Amino acid sequence: MRRLLIAGNWKMNAVRRSAVELAAAVAAQAPAESTAVDVMVAPPFPYLLPVGEALGGSRVLLAAQDVWHEPPGAFTGEVAVEMLRDVGCREVIIGHSERRHVVGETDSRINRKVVASLHGGLDVVLCVGELLEEREAGRTEAVLDQQLSAGLDGVSADQMARVILAYEPVWAIGTGKVATPDQAQSAQAHLRKRLTERYNSGTAEATQILYGGSVKPDNARELLELPDVDGALIGGASLKAESFLPIVEHAVEVTRRRG
Ligand code: PGA
Repeated sequence: MRRLLIAGNWKMNAVRRSAVELAAAVAAQAPAESTAVDVMVAPPFPYLLPVGEALGGSRVLLAAQDVWHEPPGAFTGEVAVEMLRDVGCREVIIGHSERRHVVGETDSRINRKVVASLHGGLDVVLCVGELLEEREAGRTEAVLDQQLSAGLDGVSADQMARVILAYEPVWAIGTGKVATPDQAQSAQAHLRKRLTERYNSGTAEATQILYGGSVKPDNARELLELPDVDGALIGGASLKAESFLPIVEHAVEVTRRRG
């Protein structure tokens, strides 16, 4: 049975003080080791260190929101894999829709980041997802196929043990318009089917696939109950302990009921 991961992507939000307070609150309520639920937070780069300290020895994982794919050198404004590891990150989010569609990152750039992160010892959360016009044109699966195969180019079945996927329909991110359970389940099952074809059924069954896009305490449970949803990547609702922790609680209940 796959574990559930509840991941907070803080995006470009918080100041040092609020970041530390939120991290401390999340750490204090993190589910016990005996549950099948993991929790992750991804603060902005400047707050990785103080947030890492506030997480202390808790089980909450520290992730970065992005990374650069070259070793340290002349890349003004960028942050290298080994720097993220040095400040305590174990994971990095790559290919988030805001990186793809606001910053303009291509599949090949995203792939270089995935490969460099895995090579340098960071685990990866690779985001994929279609735009509204792509869904309306019936191209959702084609878009996911392209992002998946380009993003995972050169990634071996063994390395997939260190990759988490996040299906995030772009039209659902920050819009309050969550995917229906059918839409989420069908896209996530499609991704798993592609992992079976690309690798093997063992790898596909073991890979966690998160859903992201307007996940809130009041819609989290029905999403987390879906067979191919292995957790959530949460933006807006991850910025306050009062909205993030109830989602963690839903995840714990879902895994308890599964036994
Ligand atoms: P949202 O963001 O929860 O605010 O929709 C999700 C994400 O971008 O990961």
